Amino acid sequence: MKKPIYLDYNATTPHAPEVIEAMQPYLKEHFGNPSSSHWYGEEPKRAVEKARQQVAGLLQCPPEEIIFTSGGTEANNHAIQGIAWAMRAKGNHIITSAVEHPAVLEVCRFLAPLGFEITILPVNDEGLVDPEDVQRAIRPKTILITIMHANNEVGSIQPIAEIAAIARDNNITFHTDAAQSVGKIPTLVDELKVDLLSIAGHKLYAPKGVGALYVRSSCHPAKFCHGAGQEQGRRAGTENVMQIVGLGMACALAAENLQRHITEMQRLRDRLFAALSHALPEIQRNGPVEKILPNTLSVSIQGVAADRILHLIEPEVAASAGAACHSDTVEISHVLQAMHLPQEWAKGTIRFSVGTMTTADHIDRAAKVVIAAINKNKIRR
Ligand SMILES: Cc1ncc(COP(=O)(O)O)c(C=O)c1O
Repeated sequence: MKKPIYLDYNATTPHAPEVIEAMQPYLKEHFGNPSSSHWYGEEPKRAVEKARQQVAGLLQCPPEEIIFTSGGTEANNHAIQGIAWAMRAKGNHIITSAVEHPAVLEVCRFLAPLGFEITILPVNDEGLVDPEDVQRAIRPKTILITIMHANNEVGSIQPIAEIAAIARDNNITFHTDAAQSVGKIPTLVDELKVDLLSIAGHKLYAPKGVGALYVRSSCHPAKFCHGAGQEQGRRAGTENVMQIVGLGMACALAAENLQRHITEMQRLRDRLFAALSHALPEIQRNGPVEKILPNTLSVSIQGVAADRILHLIEPEVAASAGAACHSDTVEISHVLQAMHLPQEWAKGTIRFSVGTMTTADHIDRAAKVVIAAINKNKIRR
């Protein structure tokens, strides 16, 4: 069977061949428990610590500031709930934004009936938070500001260093969900001035079900998972050695190739937009022109239903829609709603996201398929 061209790297990435190779010994021979004091524990323990150094290398932080998790969702839960409970005596107010992933928004919603007050900041029509809104939202009881680094749907990159500086000046902990940015753009924790940063392995060519949380040494979120003493006593449970090794390798590869990948992603992404916009005059690009992930292209095509287009192109191209049309209603994503994208544009919003395995030939073929589907759909309307 001929597989569709994959243009949905923001949903998940394939495993890098180097990641698969690095993991294999831990699937086969090195099965030991890293906590075991005998021979079988030695290699897995060494491998986990090497991976910690590799993740720390990408973020440029000490390895002790990395905690392995089961993914981006757990890292966000650990950061947000961990600070909420650890700082409860100081305050109960949390600031976030309207374009966060559910892995942040739902955690805040969970905390609200438990006595926490949540401010959800708006974004502008490019999906960006205004740092002045952050400043204005701060109260004496604010304990945490959590704003994502890059948005998964549109790719907008938030002014994290600026917002984090405001948090720091006000002695408030700052967390960023960097699931979409790590491996795609620089994510140096000191430049970003963050206290906590979440990583999702499967967005950077490592497996699903592994991630990490960066925790600055001055920051003390409450323990997330109770049990034995793994991960400095912060996250109990025998380490997922094989996948941690995969994440470490993925971070090492990202660090080594970051600039080259940025240039390549941009070239492919812009090639796709050039082809689409040449053939489809009624197309618009969403998000900022510059402060945007190099691999992400969110476009809206007026007068078409994105889910119908995706269905038409499905045998040949895999991408994502920003809205789902039902028989008499249109369900627009919370991100596009927050950006106040008019319904007739939001309805026709498709996200294409390219990755390291994408080629120029993929882009040219995919563009042809998408253009044909849109033209066909318009005639049928
Ligand atoms: C911005 C963002 N945060 C968090 C997550 C959740 O990460 P995971 O799937 O590893 O739990 C995702 C994944 O879609 C994401 O895009």
